[in-house]
Amino acid sequence: MATYKIGYFIGNLASGSINRTLSKALIRLAPDDLEFTEIPIRDLPLYSYDYDADFPPEGRALKDAIAASDGILFVSPEYNRSIPGALKNAIDWGSRPWGTNSFARKPTGIIGASPGGIGTAVMQSSFRSVLSFLDAPQLNAPEAYIKFNPEVFGADGEVKDESTASFLRHYMEEYGAFVERVLAASAPGHIGDQQPDPNKLSR
Ligand code: FNR
Repeated sequence: MATYKIGYFIGNLASGSINRTLSKALIRLAPDDLEFTEIPIRDLPLYSYDYDADFPPEGRALKDAIAASDGILFVSPEYNRSIPGALKNAIDWGSRPWGTNSFARKPTGIIGASPGGIGTAVMQSSFRSVLSFLDAPQLNAPEAYIKFNPEVFGADGEVKDESTASFLRHYMEEYGAFVERVLAASAPGHIGDQQPDPNKLSR
Protein backbone atom coordinates (compact mmCIF):
# COMPACT_ATOMS: atom_id res chain seq x y z
CA MET A 1 0.00 0.00 0.00
CA ALA A 2 1.39 3.43 -1.00
CA THR A 3 1.70 5.97 1.77
CA TYR A 4 1.01 9.65 1.14
CA LYS A 5 2.72 12.44 3.05
CA ILE A 6 0.26 15.14 4.03
CA GLY A 7 1.54 18.52 5.22
CA TYR A 8 -1.09 20.34 7.20
CA PHE A 9 -1.48 23.99 8.13
CA ILE A 10 -3.34 25.24 11.20
CA GLY A 11 -4.68 28.64 10.19
CA ASN A 12 -3.89 30.60 13.34
CA LEU A 13 -1.52 30.94 16.27
CA ALA A 14 -3.88 30.70 19.26
CA SER A 15 -2.88 28.31 22.07
CA GLY A 16 -6.45 27.08 22.59
CA SER A 17 -7.25 26.74 18.90
CA ILE A 18 -10.37 24.72 18.16
CA ASN A 19 -8.97 24.15 14.69
CA ARG A 20 -5.89 22.50 16.18
CA THR A 21 -8.27 20.23 18.10
CA LEU A 22 -10.10 19.53 14.84
CA SER A 23 -6.79 18.65 13.17
CA LYS A 24 -6.12 16.06 15.89
CA ALA A 25 -9.53 14.53 15.27
CA LEU A 26 -8.91 14.42 11.51
CA ILE A 27 -5.55 12.69 11.98
CA ARG A 28 -7.13 10.09 14.28
CA LEU A 29 -9.91 9.37 11.80
CA ALA A 30 -7.85 9.46 8.59
CA PRO A 31 -7.04 6.35 6.54
CA ASP A 32 -3.84 4.56 7.55
CA ASP A 33 -2.09 5.39 4.28
CA LEU A 34 -1.94 9.13 5.13
CA GLU A 35 1.04 10.36 7.18
CA PHE A 36 0.70 13.83 8.69
CA THR A 37 3.29 16.54 9.41
CA GLU A 38 2.37 20.02 10.55
CA ILE A 39 3.85 22.86 8.50
CA PRO A 40 4.46 25.58 11.09
CA ILE A 41 3.68 29.23 10.31
CA ARG A 42 4.33 30.91 13.66
CA ASP A 43 7.90 32.11 13.08
CA LEU A 44 7.51 33.42 9.54
CA PRO A 45 8.20 37.15 9.23
CA LEU A 46 5.59 39.18 7.39
CA TYR A 47 6.27 38.48 3.72
CA SER A 48 7.77 41.15 1.47
CA TYR A 49 9.40 40.71 -1.92
CA ASP A 50 12.50 42.26 -0.37
CA TYR A 51 13.16 38.71 0.90
CA ASP A 52 13.00 37.15 -2.56
CA ALA A 53 16.72 37.46 -3.28
CA ASP A 54 17.61 35.68 -0.04
CA PHE A 55 14.79 33.81 1.71
CA PRO A 56 15.25 33.50 5.52
CA PRO A 57 15.46 29.98 7.02
CA GLU A 58 11.77 30.05 8.05
CA GLY A 59 10.70 30.80 4.49
CA ARG A 60 12.97 28.12 3.03
CA ALA A 61 11.74 25.59 5.61
CA LEU A 62 8.15 26.32 4.62
CA LYS A 63 8.85 25.79 0.92
CA ASP A 64 10.85 22.62 1.64
CA ALA A 65 8.01 21.25 3.77
CA ILE A 66 5.46 21.87 1.01
CA ALA A 67 7.78 20.28 -1.56
CA ALA A 68 8.16 17.21 0.67
CA SER A 69 4.37 16.79 0.93
CA ASP A 70 2.24 14.79 -1.49
CA GLY A 71 -0.83 16.75 -0.41
CA ILE A 72 -1.67 19.80 1.67
CA LEU A 73 -4.52 20.11 4.16
CA PHE A 74 -5.62 23.48 5.54
CA VAL A 75 -7.45 23.43 8.87
CA SER A 76 -8.40 27.00 9.52
CA PRO A 77 -10.72 29.35 11.34
CA GLU A 78 -12.55 32.21 9.67
CA TYR A 79 -11.41 35.66 10.75
CA ASN A 80 -13.64 38.57 9.80
CA ARG A 81 -15.22 36.45 7.07
CA SER A 82 -11.86 35.68 5.48
CA ILE A 83 -8.50 33.87 5.74
CA PRO A 84 -6.64 34.57 9.01
CA GLY A 85 -3.67 36.87 8.43
CA ALA A 86 -1.08 34.38 9.72
CA LEU A 87 -2.21 31.76 7.22
CA LYS A 88 -2.43 34.19 4.31
CA ASN A 89 1.12 35.32 5.13
CA ALA A 90 2.31 31.69 4.97
CA ILE A 91 0.60 31.20 1.62
CA ASP A 92 2.28 34.33 0.27
CA TRP A 93 5.65 32.94 1.39
CA GLY A 94 4.97 29.61 -0.29
CA SER A 95 3.93 31.28 -3.53
CA ARG A 96 7.19 33.18 -4.01
CA PRO A 97 9.81 34.01 -5.30
CA TRP A 98 8.10 34.44 -8.68
CA GLY A 99 8.34 31.24 -10.73
CA THR A 100 8.73 28.96 -7.70
CA ASN A 101 5.13 28.70 -6.50
CA SER A 102 5.28 25.73 -4.12
CA PHE A 103 1.52 25.10 -4.27
CA ALA A 104 1.32 24.51 -8.02
CA ARG A 105 -0.31 21.12 -8.73
CA LYS A 106 -0.36 20.14 -5.03
CA PRO A 107 -3.62 18.44 -4.14
CA THR A 108 -5.26 20.47 -1.36
CA GLY A 109 -8.18 20.22 1.04
CA ILE A 110 -9.78 22.95 3.16
CA ILE A 111 -11.69 22.33 6.37
CA GLY A 112 -12.41 24.61 9.29
CA ALA A 113 -14.32 24.99 12.51
CA SER A 114 -15.97 27.91 14.24
CA PRO A 115 -18.26 28.10 17.27
CA GLY A 116 -21.03 29.54 15.09
CA GLY A 117 -23.20 27.85 12.52
CA ILE A 118 -21.40 29.36 9.55
CA GLY A 119 -18.52 26.94 10.19
CA THR A 120 -15.89 28.93 8.19
CA ALA A 121 -17.89 28.74 4.94
CA VAL A 122 -17.18 32.35 3.95
CA MET A 123 -13.43 31.98 4.60
CA GLN A 124 -13.35 28.79 2.54
CA SER A 125 -15.05 30.48 -0.37
CA SER A 126 -12.36 33.17 -0.64
CA PHE A 127 -9.64 30.61 0.08
CA ARG A 128 -10.72 28.65 -2.99
CA SER A 129 -10.02 31.68 -5.19
CA VAL A 130 -6.51 31.91 -3.75
CA LEU A 131 -5.84 28.21 -4.37
CA SER A 132 -7.19 28.49 -7.91
CA PHE A 133 -4.81 31.32 -8.66
CA LEU A 134 -1.98 29.22 -7.22
CA ASP A 135 -2.95 26.33 -9.52
CA ALA A 136 -3.52 24.03 -6.56
CA PRO A 137 -6.12 21.31 -7.29
CA GLN A 138 -8.78 21.33 -4.57
CA LEU A 139 -11.06 18.67 -3.14
CA ASN A 140 -14.42 20.15 -4.15
CA ALA A 141 -16.70 17.72 -2.37
CA PRO A 142 -17.46 16.97 0.34
CA GLU A 143 -17.32 20.49 1.72
CA ALA A 144 -16.64 20.59 5.44
CA TYR A 145 -17.98 23.46 7.54
CA ILE A 146 -17.67 22.38 11.16
CA LYS A 147 -19.68 23.96 13.98
CA PHE A 148 -17.41 23.26 16.90
CA ASN A 149 -19.12 21.81 19.94
CA PRO A 150 -16.69 21.36 22.88
CA GLU A 151 -18.82 18.50 24.19
CA VAL A 152 -18.19 16.57 20.97
CA PHE A 153 -14.44 17.16 20.56
CA GLY A 154 -12.00 16.06 23.27
CA ALA A 155 -8.76 18.08 23.52
CA ASP A 156 -6.80 15.07 22.27
CA GLY A 157 -8.93 14.79 19.14
CA GLU A 158 -11.37 12.20 20.40
CA VAL A 159 -14.78 12.65 18.70
CA LYS A 160 -17.57 11.66 21.05
CA ASP A 161 -20.47 11.83 18.61
CA GLU A 162 -20.65 9.05 16.00
CA SER A 163 -22.35 11.09 13.26
CA THR A 164 -19.62 13.77 13.49
CA ALA A 165 -16.90 11.10 13.53
CA SER A 166 -18.46 9.40 10.54
CA PHE A 167 -18.60 12.67 8.57
CA LEU A 168 -14.97 13.53 9.36
CA ARG A 169 -13.83 9.97 8.54
CA HIS A 170 -15.62 10.21 5.20
CA TYR A 171 -14.04 13.61 4.52
CA MET A 172 -10.55 12.20 5.11
CA GLU A 173 -11.22 9.13 2.98
CA GLU A 174 -12.35 11.38 0.12
CA TYR A 175 -9.36 13.66 0.64
CA GLY A 176 -6.95 10.69 0.55
CA ALA A 177 -8.57 9.34 -2.62
CA PHE A 178 -8.33 12.81 -4.20
CA VAL A 179 -4.60 13.09 -3.39
CA GLU A 180 -4.05 9.68 -4.97
CA ARG A 181 -5.99 10.69 -8.13
CA VAL A 182 -4.13 13.98 -8.58
CA LEU A 183 -0.74 12.32 -8.11
CA ALA A 184 -1.65 9.58 -10.59
CA ALA A 185 -2.75 12.20 -13.14
CA SER A 186 0.53 14.09 -12.87
CA ALA A 187 2.78 11.01 -12.92
CA PRO A 188 5.51 11.02 -15.62
CA GLY A 189 4.12 9.81 -18.94
CA HIS A 190 0.52 10.66 -18.10
CA ILE A 191 -1.17 13.18 -20.41
CA GLY A 192 -1.52 15.62 -17.50
CA ASP A 193 2.25 15.75 -17.33
CA GLN A 194 2.39 17.42 -20.75
CA GLN A 195 0.82 20.67 -19.56
CA PRO A 196 2.93 23.83 -19.70
CA ASP A 197 4.31 25.14 -16.42
CA PRO A 198 1.50 27.38 -15.05
CA ASN A 199 4.06 29.60 -13.35
CA LYS A 200 5.35 30.70 -16.72
CA LEU A 201 1.94 31.81 -18.01
CA SER A 202 0.76 34.66 -15.80
CA ARG A 203 1.56 36.75 -12.81
C1 FNR B 1 -13.28 35.52 14.92
N1 FNR B 1 -14.31 34.58 14.91
C2 FNR B 1 -15.08 34.43 13.77
N2 FNR B 1 -15.93 33.36 13.65
C3 FNR B 1 -16.63 33.18 12.50
O1 FNR B 1 -17.38 32.21 12.39
N3 FNR B 1 -16.56 34.09 11.49
C4 FNR B 1 -15.75 35.19 11.56
O2 FNR B 1 -15.67 35.96 10.62
C5 FNR B 1 -14.98 35.38 12.74
N4 FNR B 1 -14.11 36.42 12.86
C6 FNR B 1 -13.19 36.44 13.87
C7 FNR B 1 -12.18 37.39 13.86
C8 FNR B 1 -11.21 37.36 14.84
C9 FNR B 1 -10.06 38.33 14.77
C10 FNR B 1 -11.28 36.41 15.88
C11 FNR B 1 -10.22 36.37 16.96
C12 FNR B 1 -12.30 35.52 15.93
C13 FNR B 1 -14.49 33.65 16.04
C14 FNR B 1 -13.68 32.40 15.79
O3 FNR B 1 -14.46 31.50 15.01
C15 FNR B 1 -13.32 31.74 17.11
O4 FNR B 1 -12.48 32.62 17.85
C16 FNR B 1 -12.61 30.42 16.89
O5 FNR B 1 -12.25 29.88 18.16
C17 FNR B 1 -11.36 30.59 16.04
O6 FNR B 1 -10.77 29.35 15.78
P1 FNR B 1 -9.43 28.93 16.56
O7 FNR B 1 -8.52 30.11 16.46
O8 FNR B 1 -9.84 28.71 18.01
O9 FNR B 1 -8.97 27.72 15.88
